[in-house]
Amino acid sequence: MSFVDVVKEDDPTNNVPDTIYSKIGLQLHRRDNHPLGILKNTIYDYFDKSFPGQFVKFDDLCPLVSTKQNFDDVLVPADHVSRSYNDTYYVDSQTVLRCHTSAHQAELLREGHRHFLVIGDVYRRDSIDSTHYPVFHQMEGFRVFSPDDWSGSGMDGTAYAATDLKKTLEGLATHLFGAVEMRWVDTYFPFTNPSFELEIYFQGDWLEVLGCGVTEQEILKSNGRTDHVAWAFGLGLERLAMVLFDIPDIRLFWSNDQRFTSQFSKGKLGVKFKPFSKFPPCYKDMSFWINDEFTENNLCEVVRGIAGDLVEEVKLIDNFTNKKGMTSHCYRIAYRSMERSLTDEEINDMQWNVREEVKSKLRVELR
Ligand code: DAH
Repeated sequence: MSFVDVVKEDDPTNNVPDTIYSKIGLQLHRRDNHPLGILKNTIYDYFDKSFPGQFVKFDDLCPLVSTKQNFDDVLVPADHVSRSYNDTYYVDSQTVLRCHTSAHQAELLREGHRHFLVIGDVYRRDSIDSTHYPVFHQMEGFRVFSPDDWSGSGMDGTAYAATDLKKTLEGLATHLFGAVEMRWVDTYFPFTNPSFELEIYFQGDWLEVLGCGVTEQEILKSNGRTDHVAWAFGLGLERLAMVLFDIPDIRLFWSNDQRFTSQFSKGKLGVKFKPFSKFPPCYKDMSFWINDEFTENNLCEVVRGIAGDLVEEVKLIDNFTNKKGMTSHCYRIAYRSMERSLTDEEINDMQWNVREEVKSKLRVELR
């Protein structure tokens, strides 16, 4: 499967729009002067320093993966929402744009790797606001232990891996954020048990930094590592870069505006972004009677398809059901460019097109 085959307008098993297609291959994480590349390299430095010569890095793996790689290989249950067409971009019924870098765990294990980092663009259908964008970037980390590693420790393999995992990731958080307060929160992931989230206290709030855990035995067994244990973690680069660089809106990562790009340079983590201008948002409301198939993700895709990166937020502001059982939603759409002021005319045009497409594509009844 090559990139050119990704958008198939008439194929009902395909839900990849042009706006997403155009992002494939841009690889922001491989630009050394981009905040995502700077963050990636800083994390590399930590692993190189803590484990000299051990972690192999993959930042160029193809984002088109099979449903087996994305879901089955990492034990995502058959009925998990992430498998739905509402949440994931399908190229055809067997192929998706990966929704997480965990999709590569199994193949890299089978290739014999024991310590690796995977960095890449990941894709998710989602709502629209300043921290959510349908393409973002993740880093996956994986470390395998053999019985020799834990035999003298007085711990079983799982406890040994969990201890090493926590120590390693606390070190990473300190490397990125300095001496911050941290806490571990128990959670659930299909591919790890036990599973944890690491949070740090940063600028007055608890911030989730990453998810991690001790890899399910079944994954190791199926991929040539019977009797081994492993830990894994996954983190979102944008989320961390937004707080480290003070970047207020996730769309900025995609900006080619010199006033954005010129503020960052190789090796300089945490240089604070200076907004070059702040244009006012323009709000437009839209109400309609929804139908059974209506989802907010589908609405957002329509809006993004028309307004592109000029849409800042799509927010449900009113929701009621009448006596006949019909449900009405009112959405407020915020239009704002990061780079220039928008004219009334272009906003009105966009809103008119949004209304027409919402009516025709989502088959809802505008009020
Ligand atoms: N794949 C998870 C996600 O996208 C992140 C993650 C959590 C990766 C725990 C891991 C892990 O490897 O152990 O939300």
